[in-house]
Amino acid sequence: MKSLQYILFFVIFSSVYFFVICQNIPSPRRQQTSTLIGTRLYFFGGTTSLIKPNEVWYLDLSSSFNISTPPWHSDAAMPIGYTLGTSCLSPIDNSTVFLIGGRTWIATSATTQYYSYTSSLYKFDSKISQWTTPTINNFNSSFRTRNEMQAVIDNYGKIFVFGGVSYGNDDNVTTTGYNDMSILDITTMIWSTQTQSQSVLVNVDYTATLLPSGLIVYIGGRGSSTANIHNISQIQIFDTKSYTWSTKLASGSTIASRVSHSAVLAQDGNIIIYGGSTINSTKVDNVFSDIAVLNTNSWVWSVPSVSGISAPPLTQHSAALYKNYMILAFGK
Ligand SMILES: *[C@@H]1O[C@H](CO)[C@@H](O)[C@H](O)[C@H]1NC(C)=O
Ligand SMILES: *[C@@H]1O[C@H](CO)[C@@H](O)[C@H](O)[C@H]1NC(C)=O
Ligand SMILES: *[C@@H]1O[C@H](CO)[C@@H](O)[C@H](O)[C@H]1NC(C)=O
Ligand SMILES: *[C@@H]1O[C@H](CO)[C@@H](O)[C@H](O)[C@H]1NC(C)=O
Ligand SMILES: *[C@@H]1O[C@H](CO)[C@@H](O)[C@H](O)[C@H]1NC(C)=O
Ligand SMILES: *[C@@H]1O[C@H](CO)[C@@H](O)[C@H](O)[C@H]1NC(C)=O
Repeated sequence: MKSLQYILFFVIFSSVYFFVICQNIPSPRRQQTSTLIGTRLYFFGGTTSLIKPNEVWYLDLSSSFNISTPPWHSDAAMPIGYTLGTSCLSPIDNSTVFLIGGRTWIATSATTQYYSYTSSLYKFDSKISQWTTPTINNFNSSFRTRNEMQAVIDNYGKIFVFGGVSYGNDDNVTTTGYNDMSILDITTMIWSTQTQSQSVLVNVDYTATLLPSGLIVYIGGRGSSTANIHNISQIQIFDTKSYTWSTKLASGSTIASRVSHSAVLAQDGNIIIYGGSTINSTKVDNVFSDIAVLNTNSWVWSVPSVSGISAPPLTQHSAALYKNYMILAFGK
């Protein structure tokens, strides 16, 4: 776990610590999605105290900076307010971002808006700061309103989106959790939904991490009911090469089961998770501030000793790995 010695934890800020709204600084938020594009860490949308903004912000990581004055920049606004979705960077050009699923919001004033399903896909060309709504071939309309899930993209441009939950305000659907795997190939824009032949748990508010071996590791999360938080030591794994599921029973340290945490793939090939919460009814309950490491060879959880000032408890935040740094931003 040598590389952990070098990992610093940055909390850019969270709502607890930051109240001033300045023009060049994003207001506090949670439920945004983020993507690292080269040396820019992008954040899309989220929920602020006033509205679900259509804002796009990025942190410029190309030079070192003082954490109390992070180098924020805003970019072209999204066509809609956006929360609880997921995003992937195209490995074909390393500059186009796809936003998949999520809740989409239409603003009626600076402080009012309403939920309206608009599209399950938005595309952002970061080179020219342009948003488009691409057409998906063969789209499965049962994916409409899907949110609270994480997608990963493989090196060939296939986006894998697992599970999530429908959102009840559109199409008169009841909120339902899913265990399906949808695949969008960005080279053909063809959508497909895999038939689930094996028994895979419904999962919502988990993390998804793609390993170099092609395995996607799903950590934590819950079933359809918010009362049903999954055992974090029972890890569902999808093989993107054979399209098969398996379950690993992790041993080692006891890690609290949780939802809405964050996970990054460290340079040593292990997965580091941070924060998240339990839920009581629909309310965020205990919010965690612990760091845990999952060894992806032995499937052993461990809790490293970490020096420096700890980040606060955070849930519904973002995390990204940049060089040796796990950067945490926003959250509740
Ligand atoms: C970072 O900025 C803060 C506030 O301006 C200042 O107090 C602190 O000394 C700076 N830290 C470094 C390492 O420059
Ligand atoms: C995209 O980034 C990956 C990883 O850094 C690199 O291997 C690949 O060559 C890049 N592709 C393009 C088109 O820049
Ligand atoms: C949802 O239900 C309302 C009230 O019953 C109805 O007016 C509306 O057309 C329904 N919407 C859809 C998309 O079915
Ligand atoms: C669409 O998705 C639903 C829900 O996962 C699934 O039951 C159905 O088989 C899918 N339809 C197609 C055509 O893939
Ligand atoms: C969670 O799963 C692990 C691994 O199977 C098991 O050892 C542990 O008892 C389970 N915890 C609970 C609370 O069921
Ligand atoms: C959930 O919250 C209620 C009211 O605050 C409390 O009575 C109950 O014990 C809590 N349940 C759990 C499982 O923490």
